[in-house]
Amino acid sequence: MTESHAQTRFAKDFLSILDLSWDDLERLLRLSAQMKTDRRLGPKAPSASTLAGMHVALLFEKPSLRTRSTFEIAIRELGGDTLHLPSSLAEGIREPLQDVARNLERWVRALIIRTFAQDKVATLAAAGRDLHVINALTDEEHPCQALADALTMRERWGDCRGRTIAFIGDGNNVATSLLQVSLMLGITVHVASPSGYELPDNVVNAATRVARDGATVARFTDPARAVDGVDAVYTDVWASMGEEAEAADRRRVFAPYQVNDRLMAAAHRDVIFMHCLPAHRGEEVTSQVIDSSASVVFDQAENRLHTQKALLSMLVS
Ligand code: CP
Repeated sequence: MTESHAQTRFAKDFLSILDLSWDDLERLLRLSAQMKTDRRLGPKAPSASTLAGMHVALLFEKPSLRTRSTFEIAIRELGGDTLHLPSSLAEGIREPLQDVARNLERWVRALIIRTFAQDKVATLAAAGRDLHVINALTDEEHPCQALADALTMRERWGDCRGRTIAFIGDGNNVATSLLQVSLMLGITVHVASPSGYELPDNVVNAATRVARDGATVARFTDPARAVDGVDAVYTDVWASMGEEAEAADRRRVFAPYQVNDRLMAAAHRDVIFMHCLPAHRGEEVTSQVIDSSASVVFDQAENRLHTQKALLSMLVS
């Protein structure tokens, strides 16, 4: 039986994990798991015509392997068609972003955008009243990644309440969305970052407001203290897209934050290792850790597809 998702109205757009209620997140993860199971049915899957007759636009201002590929496949497997837009449109120079949205909503059902400022996706979402806008990564948040991370943790642990995850590294967009989704699932979050690279207070405060079942946030500068006894260790590249000029400085600052066998040994015996990818092996994580039996990084990558199919389906329903 296909998971029902008609109980309450889902948000028009998906710009942030904070756009979801606890109930939305629960329904989305259940539908994702159902779609993962149903995929073996191919064109006979119950969701195969969800986007029939619809187009979805993709606009990427930054490189992507996982996000672009999984959205393209998701749209096709839901029976829809894709429209690739030139990245320059997101600059808002040829015409204002509001006009871009008001054109697109006449032709396409949704816009998937990867860009720099979160303000841009918010502007497009506000202007396109009949356009579902999906944040495929901004400098501030990466909510689609967090959905796949949540499904991966659920697959490993079942009920996630009472678990603890440590994020080691830059308090960036991936850390922000991971913090939000983890607290919503009742997972306590430890974040270890060098001084000057911590998650901002406003991000931590906003995420804390959606925490459930006693989940909390603790910030550390010492990665060994952050991973002590945790169920999952997560890291990301030290210089995100757009920060390449700082890469040499960051390699020096972040060197003590490498996730290696020694750090993993301080965690729980059954710890899992997580990374959004791409990984810079030998920098934020060693090959021994990413290729170890604890690593679930390719489950996370696979789950991008299933969670994004569920997301598209719930947005357009
Ligand atoms: N994790 C992630 O978003 O991968 P891409 O940058 O390849 O899309």
